[in-house]
Amino acid sequence: MPTIEFCANTIGRMKRVEAPEGGELVDICDHVLAPIPFSCRSASCGTCHVEVLEGADSLEPPKPEEQELLRLLGGEGTYRLACQARVRPGPGLIRLRAVLSP
Ligand code: FES
Repeated sequence: MPTIEFCANTIGRMKRVEAPEGGELVDICDHVLAPIPFSCRSASCGTCHVEVLEGADSLEPPKPEEQELLRLLGGEGTYRLACQARVRPGPGLIRLRAVLSP
C-alpha cells in the first residue's frame, strides 16, 4: 500500500499516511490535514505546487491542464499539483514537499 509522507514546513508538522486504495491526492491531504496549501483546486493558481522527493511513479501521469500550469511554474525536478495528482494503488512510498511562496 502506498505510504505518503508530507514534509514539515511553516504551515504544519510532518504527516505520514497509508493510502491502500490510492485516490485523489487532494482528498488524502484534506483527510490528514497535510501541510499543503490549496486555493482554486482546479489547476489554475499553483498554490498546491509540490515537489515529489520520492515515489513519482506511484502517481498517475499529469493530465494536460496540470502539465500546462506546471510548465508555467517552471523549476527542475519532479513537481506536481496536489489538487490534480492521483495516487496509484499498490506498494510504495511517496514523499512530498510543498513549494511555498515567500
Ligand atoms: S489549488 Fe490551485 S492549482 Fe491546485
